[in-house]
Amino acid sequence: MQKISVKGGKILKGEVSISGSKNATLPVMTAALLGESPSLIKNVPYLNDIKTMAEVLKTLGAKAQLEDHRLHIDPKGFNKWEAPYELVKTMRASIYSLGACLAKMEEAKVSLPGGCAIGARPIDLHLKGVEQLGAKVTIEHGYVHAKAENLVGTTIQLAGPHGPSLGATINVLLASTAAKGTTIIESASTEPEVEDTVNFLKAMGASIEGGGTSRLVIEGRKKLKGVEYSVIPDRVEAGTFMVAAAITKGDVTLKGVNANHLSAVTDKLRQIGVTVDVSPEGFRVRGEGSYKPADVWVLPYPGFPTDMQAQIMALLATVPGISVVTETIWENRFMHVFEMNRMGADINIDRSHAVVKGVPKLTGAPVMASDLRASAALILAGLVAEGETMIQRIYHLDRGYEKIEKKLSALGADIKRMD
Ligand code: EPZ
Repeated sequence: MQKISVKGGKILKGEVSISGSKNATLPVMTAALLGESPSLIKNVPYLNDIKTMAEVLKTLGAKAQLEDHRLHIDPKGFNKWEAPYELVKTMRASIYSLGACLAKMEEAKVSLPGGCAIGARPIDLHLKGVEQLGAKVTIEHGYVHAKAENLVGTTIQLAGPHGPSLGATINVLLASTAAKGTTIIESASTEPEVEDTVNFLKAMGASIEGGGTSRLVIEGRKKLKGVEYSVIPDRVEAGTFMVAAAITKGDVTLKGVNANHLSAVTDKLRQIGVTVDVSPEGFRVRGEGSYKPADVWVLPYPGFPTDMQAQIMALLATVPGISVVTETIWENRFMHVFEMNRMGADINIDRSHAVVKGVPKLTGAPVMASDLRASAALILAGLVAEGETMIQRIYHLDRGYEKIEKKLSALGADIKRMD
């Protein structure tokens, strides 16, 4: 089992290139199945989740080959419609095969993903959406089985108890490309990863209006062809490096970032007292002077992202005064708090609120990562903790951050991966 060791106290300086977005690549890969010819997806991050999705595509009969951040997907052999438990249990985004299989094979059997460390993760909105398009859905033996010989467009309201759903929007979007007539998705997710998937499908020949807005209008049954496409930069990786610069009072320039996708994170960091300069040369983040506490309210895009909640908490744990972080998307996404407290942080949880009393110093400790973003947050805390922080269960990290220890080390961090 590998671990990451971080010795705190180094000030990060220099330039870092941000990889392509994991959460955009995953739906784009699935959408590539709908083409009649191969696609070449560029700027693909080299991550375990991408490899798992490639396995899902292969299980469905397609070819997927990742080489040098370029992913060739040939959908010609796509003739199966079952995504097994072994793959779905390791990565919930495998559920996107529901929409793709329904669109192309008129049938789909996908293992129910179940809950995880951050929350219950229901898929009721995914099922509601495809049922409204005409699919007959049954749940048996832990699998969702959907059949639809004739998908027909309709208006689908996808609002859930915590706002829109990225995953449900993707599934309904994929299925609706094969539906007769017009599908309107109301309360669609506006997250950049959905917009990127819309742009990819449009490049393939789909007729979709409203990408990036909460109302998507899809004219189904267009012939889709494979295309060459470059995915957007990873806004969560970028946000994580912004916090790394801020927490170490460093001076880091991020290359290959889309500033629009980071406005809520930038705004919050500026409020705390971090200097963020946006220019054509890059995104320069500097930590100078003293910081102020802040209240962070997680919201669906364009609000402050849940996937940056743990990282900003690591920063606030070291800022004098009282900050309050409120998580509204995932009911169990505070697991990192207990580990940060073991490093000397003073954080109390009251239901969906974390009350963070900034402490003068954190101290290194052995800690356990509970999910992907919690792992990143513990590394961030380790960057300023006195002594060594040893992060265990880093397989979470390898699902979503490409070579994070190498990138941080190039900026001056004392960090290494150990067996
Ligand atoms: C995506 O998950 C991301 N994953 C998550 O990132 C991210 O935290 C989340 O969106 C929110 O931004 C990928 O893109 C692979 P949702 P997803 O459906 O699609 C509720 C990371 O660290 N809901 O938008 O699964 C749900 O419980 C990961 O990279 C329903 O009620 O999230 C949640 O409260 C972690 N019914 C809210 O909606 C449903 O049918 C948003 O979930 C579906 C969701």
